[in-house]
Amino acid sequence: MREVTRDTVRAVCRLQVGPGQDGFVAPNAVSIAEAYFEPKAWFRAIYADSDPVGFVMLYEDPEKAEYYLWRLMIAGEYQGRGYGWRALRLVIDRLRSLPGVRELLTSCVPGEGGPRPFYERLGFTATGEVDDGEEVLRLPLD
Ligand SMILES: CC(C)(COP(=O)(O)OP(=O)(O)OC[C@H]1O[C@@H](n2cnc3c(N)ncnc32)[C@H](O)[C@@H]1OP(=O)(O)O)[C@@H](O)C(=O)NCCC(=O)NCCS
Repeated sequence: MREVTRDTVRAVCRLQVGPGQDGFVAPNAVSIAEAYFEPKAWFRAIYADSDPVGFVMLYEDPEKAEYYLWRLMIAGEYQGRGYGWRALRLVIDRLRSLPGVRELLTSCVPGEGGPRPFYERLGFTATGEVDDGEEVLRLPLD
């Protein structure tokens, strides 16, 4: 994972999910714009060697021990190669190295082709809560 820079931001914003997946995640340009106004946002581009292939963003509030996977996407042509899995493992390893992190939350749009099975494979389970129409999932980290 690499920081997005002046030189790479356009390439990261050009990354697109596959056909029919637009409803599952916001465009990267929107995520980066939101992060500009949210000091608790942490984001990185996901690279395979020198190619940008995806984007990940968290909301992190260490004072409240709140860690929320806000956005995750792998560009359509790079999906199914293990990049999403490995990126999320790196995010989880990083969170485990921080003091006081108990859990990682996320939420996802329910429906056919949605990412919930992907998250469940990583150990997330549904909390039963629904946030703004999205199912809330939790991964314990303590
Ligand atoms: C969800 C997403 C990030 C997964 O990334 P990816 O690189 O394609 O996934 P990986 O190749 O690392 O897959 C890891 C495992 O999850 C499975 N998986 C991935 N996406 C899946 C899906 N939508 N449904 C069921 N299983 C899925 C893979 O088959 C693989 O399983 P395996 O190890 O048993 O073969 C990617 O498909 C994506 O960007 N989707 C559109 C945007 C989106 O839904 N983002 C999440 C917003 S909450």
